Amino acid sequence: MKTGLFERVFERRADVVRATPGRVNLIGSHTDYNGGMVLPVALPIGTEVAVAVTETPLIRIFSSKFEEVVSYSFTDTARGHWADYAAGAVITARKRGLVSRGVDVAIEANLPAGAGISSSASVIVGVLKALRRLGDAALSETEIAQLAREVENAFIGLPCGIMDQMAVAVGRTDCAMALDTGTLAYELVPLPPDLRVCVIHSGIDRALSDGRYARRAEECLEASAAFGHRPLCQLRRSQIEALTDLPETLRRRARHCSAEHQRVLSAIGALKAGQLETFGRLISASHASLRDDFEISLPDIDDLVSDAVALGALGARLTGGGFGGCIVACIKPDRFEAWISALLSRHPRARLIC
Ligand code: GLA
Repeated sequence: MKTGLFERVFERRADVVRATPGRVNLIGSHTDYNGGMVLPVALPIGTEVAVAVTETPLIRIFSSKFEEVVSYSFTDTARGHWADYAAGAVITARKRGLVSRGVDVAIEANLPAGAGISSSASVIVGVLKALRRLGDAALSETEIAQLAREVENAFIGLPCGIMDQMAVAVGRTDCAMALDTGTLAYELVPLPPDLRVCVIHSGIDRALSDGRYARRAEECLEASAAFGHRPLCQLRRSQIEALTDLPETLRRRARHCSAEHQRVLSAIGALKAGQLETFGRLISASHASLRDDFEISLPDIDDLVSDAVALGALGARLTGGGFGGCIVACIKPDRFEAWISALLSRHPRARLIC
């Protein structure tokens, strides 16, 4: 970091400084809480966190984005504030014995919030890794990711899966992470040099905390219950269609999860074999499923995705939780410049993130 940021705000040096990336999910949407596969990649942009212990019983948090210091005590709960993510990380870490005194945290945030590229997981994982270092604790990256998910689920109250936390804690910018969210086994699959992954913000903001993500998670639970609580990603299409009294909405949710899981498996195979056209088609098919079966897209995002492909991308789709935020597109590097300027001139609200 600019460790200067921490010094300017707290008038002393930080004990630990940590950088954590954001992530973009190439394919595998909403499969991570349905027992399926995902394929995220770490981004070259992220969050920097600087931390120091204090003699006070307080957690004080500063972010370069908001230019304010916010205080929490160790018994506080989430209050719907930007600082909840860092506070939740410290409070959860304290319960695990990673920290016993007060903590000052400064955050340099280079990721747009609510954009589907894991700004919250990046902050939480960054703070947890910094505290691990401070406390000299023997926690693996996977354990850090599990703790970070606990912050989201139990402190923030978002019933998310574990993809973001694993991608941010373990992921690399030059490899896609083929992660089995059921077992947490993963493989890092190198990205070929003739594939450029682009993240484009649609210009439409959204917050996962607005209840729509949680509603999808509930629908998936209801659908899974109708199949004896089997994870939706493990069902076959024929089983889903055979259950005739399943309400139509739940059938669509189940159909998406089952097909999306299979698409991720095919995409991993295509990536390893260098079949980039196939890889791109799978990404675009994922978008169609998010639009028609999971119903988390918006008309403007559908237009952005279809123009991205019409103008030359191998494939494109909505990424993240849905209802706004970013799309991910894959393109041959030599076509990138002409493609992005044509796309952004057709969609003036959209902007290239990386
Ligand atoms: C958000 C959640 C993830 C995942 C994605 C959708 O990013 O935090 O756990 O469910 O949405 O794939």
